[in-house]
Amino acid sequence: MKILFVASEVTPFAKTGGLADVTAALPKTLKRLGHDVRIILPFYSEVERGGHGIRKGRKSVEVPIGGVMKKGLFRHSTLGDIPVYLLENREYFSRDHLYGTAKGEYPDNHRRFAFFCRGVLDLLKKMDFRPDVIHCHDWQTALIPLLLKREKGEDLFFRKTGVVFTIHNLAYQGLFPKETLADMGLDSSYFNIDCLEYYGKVNLMKGGILSADLITTVSETYCREIQTPELGDGLDGVLGVRKADLHGVLNGLDYELWDPETDRNIYKNYSAHAPAGKAADKKGLQKSLGLEPAADLPLIGIVSRLTAQKGFDLLAELMPKFAESRLQLAILGTGDEKYLNLLQEIKARGADNISVNIGFHPDLAPKIYAGSDIFLMPSHYEPCGLGQMIALRYGAVPLVRKTGGLADTVFEEGEGGEPNGFTFEEYTPEALWGAVSRALQAFEDKVAWKKLMRRGMTCDYSWDASARKYEELYRLALGKKGR
Ligand code: ADP
Ligand code: GLC
Repeated sequence: MKILFVASEVTPFAKTGGLADVTAALPKTLKRLGHDVRIILPFYSEVERGGHGIRKGRKSVEVPIGGVMKKGLFRHSTLGDIPVYLLENREYFSRDHLYGTAKGEYPDNHRRFAFFCRGVLDLLKKMDFRPDVIHCHDWQTALIPLLLKREKGEDLFFRKTGVVFTIHNLAYQGLFPKETLADMGLDSSYFNIDCLEYYGKVNLMKGGILSADLITTVSETYCREIQTPELGDGLDGVLGVRKADLHGVLNGLDYELWDPETDRNIYKNYSAHAPAGKAADKKGLQKSLGLEPAADLPLIGIVSRLTAQKGFDLLAELMPKFAESRLQLAILGTGDEKYLNLLQEIKARGADNISVNIGFHPDLAPKIYAGSDIFLMPSHYEPCGLGQMIALRYGAVPLVRKTGGLADTVFEEGEGGEPNGFTFEEYTPEALWGAVSRALQAFEDKVAWKKLMRRGMTCDYSWDASARKYEELYRLALGKKGR
């Protein structure tokens, strides 16, 4: 099959979270299964800074945005043996961040990503590359299914192309004022309840959900949750309309990239069969973060975007308890101003058992996974979560709230299934602290802890099984095109 991945971030070119991991690892697995896979993303400053052996391409596109024709150039690179195309437009993508700053989103994101979506479709024709399936990810690419259905419905070039739209996070919907429609080159016929209109605004995610041949999301539990008013973010009704075409497929982890046996970012390599090196990783991390290099103190790690999603409200309430307990806490994160301020405050209080590291640091993250005994993800909601899967692989026992993909991957003793971590259900500081206390107690029994750690390290959350499920879904999407 010829499969095109369209995404706003892809590892190692540009990354703010797990989306980038998925849009690199799934294509790699599909390529190994024998498919012709290609990837397209914007050419951000971050991509340019990274090098990546990028070459200038010859193809250019011109698309109507904001009432004028905007030009874009395509550059080329590769991810292993997968061709990667990068859409360049200095006005839209040469910026410090991908989507906005700590203060908020860039105000012209609708123009930036409408330009990207239209540019992608234009490029495919210019290259004469007709994918069997276009796999789009999150609201930034949601215009593609919509344009293919409405604007290009009669276009023979795309008539047999199936579109799969994956929701990685329903809370980010691409909501814009009505007036932005024209900016995106869309007329008022798009502004109705069966299309983009959503409480008087334009909702791009809604357009993607209603127009794609199939919709997927990134775990089975999240798939059920988003069909309820509690976690449906106002789109549970819209998802209900597409219920028959909505599938939950658990993400996998790139086991080549995330492997403590070969990871060059950590102090000492180790594996499930020879885990002794992990002690050196803990010591190295403690020293580098200015924590006491004590082997017997349980070290709890957090690597996270700083948003309400990730449970920082609970953590904030528990900080005094963490500061006075016999444990160490290593936090790495960046994101919303509110939580950045919170972390600055924690740092300023100067508890000597808590290390706060602000920023996006791909070299420090693996050191935290490798050096931690426990990895914390007290998320309010979590579509899938890759952090807990990385932690499992690196022998950091995950402690998670039972929601979304966390509920599908982490199990505590007594829950049925092989225990590999600690869980809590109620979104309260008390419930979180209860799980922390159980983990700290379990840590005291060294023999049992090693067993728990090793069991986590040998869980299989690789992409193999899920990539097969996507293959099936692609075939289903093609079936809808009469193929
Ligand atoms: P989300 O996509 O919601 O942020 P995931 O758990 O799916 O959550 O994926 C997070 C990914 O981003 C992981 O690969 C994690 O290691 C990485 N990550 C998150 N925050 C940082 C950070 N501050 N520095 C480096 N890597 C980070
Ligand atoms: C989103 C979700 C996260 C998921 C990731 C990759 O960022 O917040 O839970 O793992 O996408 O699908």
